[in-house]
Amino acid sequence: MAIHINLDNYVSFYGAEKIDQMKSKLEKAHSNLYTGEGKGSDFLGWVDLPNRFPKEEVEKIKATALKIKNQSQVLVVIGIGGSYLGSKAAIDLIKSPNYNLKDRNGFPQVFFAGNNISSEYVAELFDIIGDRDFSVNVISKSGTTTEPALAFHFFETKLKAKYPDAWMDRVYVTTDKERGALRPFATKHNLDSFVIDDDIGGRFSVLSAVGLLPIACAGIDIDKILDGAKSMQKELSTFSLSNIGVKYAAARNIAYENGKSVEILGSYQPNFKSMAEWWKQLFGESEGKGLKGIFPASVEFPADLHSLGQFIQDGSRILFETIVNIENTSMDLVIKDCDKDFPKLEVFEQTTLNTVNKKAFEGTLKAHVHGGVPNIIINITDAGEYSYGELVYFFEFACAISAYVLDVNPFDQPGVEEYKIEVMKLINN
Ligand code: PA5
Repeated sequence: MAIHINLDNYVSFYGAEKIDQMKSKLEKAHSNLYTGEGKGSDFLGWVDLPNRFPKEEVEKIKATALKIKNQSQVLVVIGIGGSYLGSKAAIDLIKSPNYNLKDRNGFPQVFFAGNNISSEYVAELFDIIGDRDFSVNVISKSGTTTEPALAFHFFETKLKAKYPDAWMDRVYVTTDKERGALRPFATKHNLDSFVIDDDIGGRFSVLSAVGLLPIACAGIDIDKILDGAKSMQKELSTFSLSNIGVKYAAARNIAYENGKSVEILGSYQPNFKSMAEWWKQLFGESEGKGLKGIFPASVEFPADLHSLGQFIQDGSRILFETIVNIENTSMDLVIKDCDKDFPKLEVFEQTTLNTVNKKAFEGTLKAHVHGGVPNIIINITDAGEYSYGELVYFFEFACAISAYVLDVNPFDQPGVEEYKIEVMKLINN
């Protein structure tokens, strides 16, 4: 397994026995995922997805990614929330946040649209694409979400202008099997399309074509991602208090019961930043309802030690931290031949950036724990495909258990509707 959880700096606050005391609630929450006795049980399709992922679907995703690679230098992925955050997270984590600027070995640049309503953003993307060939993967389970629908309108128009007779060959649709407006559109124009299963909700869909097609387009090995997810599925399927999904869910709920209403997810690697955005949506939309839930926030350290660090150390004691520690990175720069005058780095001479980064992690951990912030550490061996697959499944699983312990439906998002209604009222006026 690529993931290990360390609660040493957490149990020093609450004691290990608190987790034992929660055992029956945790066991029930765990079994709900298999018996379907919990709330929202129509949306449990993701639980055994890695294990049953159809081989033909993987091959279709790979073949489509190859087709896109051969026809375009740019792929525009249109979607919002669960329809894009997971694939962006994968590309940033496994490749780089600078993926689009790097040598990509023939794979297209991947840009995301439809998660804002900004004219500047769309116009700038048009400029960036310029005269180059591009394709569009429009992803919306409902097909009715305004933000991606608007973005698609602009990119569809551009495609039609550039490829009047062949635009249909450059639009890839990922949507519901029957419902919503996108499916009939795909059928009418005979577009390449993928189905989002009825029993898989948006934020639990990254390990389906929703996430895997854009990820494969960036030259990432999706077989390895599914292998990682499969191994984590097996690992978490048996209930025990040492099951890491159960442990994480328990630790979060105990912190919450003890007045910690904000969880900060952090890492010391910039390529983890989008993963934290995915995590925030997963936990925020799954748990924050019925006037309950832990507010999921994120930090990138050490950058945020010079911003939110002050609050974490010394502000209201409403926080606990979860740090994802990526143990091995692909390189390590040696600090050597330092200038004698400036900067004053004698003490770092002959050490490496990774060593200093590790010390920053360990020192900050001590300081924050001393300041009254319980810390959960999730160690992952690296930021590769397999680890990503494990991590995604681990968080999805822990999130569902955690929401069940909190006694909320992990799979709906009734609160999202209100803003939509208010916006449409204004538009219709
Ligand atoms: O988790 C969810 O279900 C949501 O975040 C959706 O992914 C998001 O609202 C986008 O919905 P749709 O894919 O229907 O456009």
